[in-house]
Amino acid sequence: MQNQSININYQEFSSIDELNAEDRELACAAIEGMKGSYAPYSHFNVGAAVRMSNGQIVRGANQENAAFPSGLCAERTAMFAAGAKYPDKDMQSIAVAGGVYGRITDEPATPCGACRQVMAQYQAKSGKPMSVIMVGGKKIWKFEKVDDILPLIFDSI
Ligand code: THU
Repeated sequence: MQNQSININYQEFSSIDELNAEDRELACAAIEGMKGSYAPYSHFNVGAAVRMSNGQIVRGANQENAAFPSGLCAERTAMFAAGAKYPDKDMQSIAVAGGVYGRITDEPATPCGACRQVMAQYQAKSGKPMSVIMVGGKKIWKFEKVDDILPLIFDSI
């Protein structure tokens, strides 16, 4: 038996102003995207934004439903819209932000497991790393690739 470990590296920023111009634009789009949230049950408004290889940004927001499993997270809403709109382009980066009643949380918004799995799929489709930016009001985390937030990825059978 051998003990093993997995090391995850990421960058932490204390303000959106510290991000490079592209990431700042994407983070702001995710925050703006929160306005598209329909969350009458949780009142937790989440916005996401995907940067495509053609420079376009596609936004998404969580959409809830009285039949709970029928709703969808902001990240998947954004990725599925991006995939449908630009099927031949790569998803280079995704940003996510969230907050109760539209007020952004201080801590970064962290994607659920199902959204991470969908990110993994689009990253594998493109064959290039897809960075993930988790935005909070007082802290922002940037991960260079989906593997960093979903170690030991299941990517095909
Ligand atoms: N939600 C997201 O949109 N993204 C996540 O990664 C986690 C959760 C949404 C789903 C639901 O509408 C609300 O947040 C509360 O869970």
